[in-house]
Amino acid sequence: MSAPLVVLVGPMGVGKSTVGRLLAERLGVGYRDTDDDIVAEQGRTIADIFVEDGESAFRAVEKRAVHRALTEHDGVLALGGGSILDADTRDLLSGLRVVYLSMDVEEAVRRTGLNTARPLLAVNPRKQWRDLMEARRHLYEEVATAVVPTDGRTPEEVGQAALDALELKEA
Ligand code: S3P
Repeated sequence: MSAPLVVLVGPMGVGKSTVGRLLAERLGVGYRDTDDDIVAEQGRTIADIFVEDGESAFRAVEKRAVHRALTEHDGVLALGGGSILDADTRDLLSGLRVVYLSMDVEEAVRRTGLNTARPLLAVNPRKQWRDLMEARRHLYEEVATAVVPTDGRTPEEVGQAALDALELKEA
């Protein structure tokens, strides 16, 4: 049993993977991403799981993947954007260093609007983003020990802000 040094949460497209890799490198630890774990385990893309099995089946697979990663991984762990919807998952995050990478809705639409690989945004990206963030913002804030805005910042600047907020020293 181990626990991640840092967990990254936040909406899709906010840069969890890019910033997570940078942070892991600077901290001298490994990087892991629960979306990648799910794709590897299922042998299908996330979009295919949504289409073939539906969102609630995906959430069950995701919950297992997140719980496994939280006990196996001791480096930087990025969680899929919707994993904080699960109350047990939110409980497991308490006591850990959790960084919420945030962005405003316009930035979100710019970054992800045309990306059809993200099944939750396929129809009307701006409205879907607004609804999604209204439903989730308080959950991200609830689990976070630090909130790091990403608007107008490079991944390096975001990574630095996260290190500063967590008062973590580089390797
Ligand atoms: C989702 C976010 C995605 C992926 C799936 C659902 C969500 O992960 O798990 O498309 O509900 O916000 P990323 O946040 O890594 O893109």
